[in-house]
Amino acid sequence: MNEAAILRTLNAFAVDVITIPSVDDLFWYVAQNVVGPLGFVDCVIYQANEAGTNLAQVAALGEKNPYDRSILNPLHIPFGQGITGQVAQSGKPMIVDDLLQQRNYIPDMQPARSEICVPLLIKGRVVGVIDSEHPDSGAFGQAELDILTTVAAMTSAKLELLAEAERSHQRYLDLATSHVQLSQETANRRALESKLFAARKLEAIGRLTGRFAHDFNNLLTVISGNLEFLAADVTSADGQASLADAQTAAGRGAKLIRDMLAFSQRTRLAPELADLNEIAANVMTHAAPTLPASITLTKSLSDSLALVAVDIRETVNALRNLISNARDAMSGGGILHIWTEMVTHSWHENASLVTPLAPGAYVCISVQDSGTGIPEDSLPQLFDPFYTTKPVGQGAGLGLSMILGFMQQSRGSVSVTSKLHEGSRFRLYFPIAQIEKNDLLTIDR
Ligand SMILES: Nc1ncnc2c1ncn2[C@@H]1O[C@H](COP(=O)(O)OP(=O)(O)O)[C@@H](O)[C@H]1O
Ligand SMILES: [Mg+2]
Repeated sequence: MNEAAILRTLNAFAVDVITIPSVDDLFWYVAQNVVGPLGFVDCVIYQANEAGTNLAQVAALGEKNPYDRSILNPLHIPFGQGITGQVAQSGKPMIVDDLLQQRNYIPDMQPARSEICVPLLIKGRVVGVIDSEHPDSGAFGQAELDILTTVAAMTSAKLELLAEAERSHQRYLDLATSHVQLSQETANRRALESKLFAARKLEAIGRLTGRFAHDFNNLLTVISGNLEFLAADVTSADGQASLADAQTAAGRGAKLIRDMLAFSQRTRLAPELADLNEIAANVMTHAAPTLPASITLTKSLSDSLALVAVDIRETVNALRNLISNARDAMSGGGILHIWTEMVTHSWHENASLVTPLAPGAYVCISVQDSGTGIPEDSLPQLFDPFYTTKPVGQGAGLGLSMILGFMQQSRGSVSVTSKLHEGSRFRLYFPIAQIEKNDLLTIDR
């Protein structure tokens, strides 16, 4: 091949190499050009490992590899061994005129007579070698050395570029990952801080309410007791009507106080082992006749629910409150769905709870309606005592605060999700009951 043709091939090679996307493609492209266009009868390319101790065959063309790109049995050569190993170790090209005279020759599948090998160098470090053999002795001279050295220089430069591109891609990926992590952490932190603030606010109100309710409860007990005592002496019809009004009012007062005490977590709870499915089913049976026909009541109860240790009366009370809120939110009718399930709670989900919970498994009961939904700016006040959007006389605004207090006292929590005009879902989280195996045997489920 004449010099001009070789130059043209090398020029085309330089242009093509620009668009080659990967190291693998690059080696094959080089091998394909060395054999054929550049006039060599075979070409084997080896890549060095990171440690610079071993070469591995990565591309081979010609008689050495008739299987195209799949190398069936890639050769591995330690640095220093054979011609390729020596070139890898010294970083200097080598031409061997007669391999029969060489003790160092490592014969491949086809024994050859002459061999030329040039290193691939990046910043003075050997990253591989390009090797070619010939069946005749003395086949390689300065011209072949110049061609292969030029090819090796272009290949090395491209390898360096590809490595740099890979590194910057990796840096970009690392950066993107840490950015995502950071923004998630910031968002979580903000959500938790506002939760903490809300929890502190409720705690402060709870302490105030608790003291007040406690004292007032004592007063109410005296009032109710005396009203009962008077009942025997009041004989006139008017007198009895007034007494009945007073007793009704005292009874309402007592109910208010009970809810306030529940909110401030001062209810005396009597926890017992219970199956939330059973409680839910009972509450639904009682609630169904009280709901208008426009509301459809549906349920799905998990069949793998753990037991809980709860005050059953208060749990029923909480569920009834949720159901009556749902009913109020669906004056035009809708679907009221109640379900139970096991939920695995993790730290990052604390943002969705009114008060945070330790990660772990919880038994959950959810009440979902397809009613008005709750405006986002109302959510922070929802559990405040006396917060109500209902007309005077219809809502005391203690239902949700009672539920929250009760759930906290039961070492659980509450979550709300709501979409305006689509509906709301309230979920009660109960911790799994800690029970001994023997206890389980005595429970009648
Ligand atoms: N399921 C619901 N859908 C829409 N709004 C609700 C729902 N549950 C509660 N709310 C809102 O939260 C407020 C407080 O509820 P609650 O504490 O039970 O008090 P009350 O029912 O006496 O108003 C309600 O007045 C209502 O605005
Ligand atoms: Mg209510």
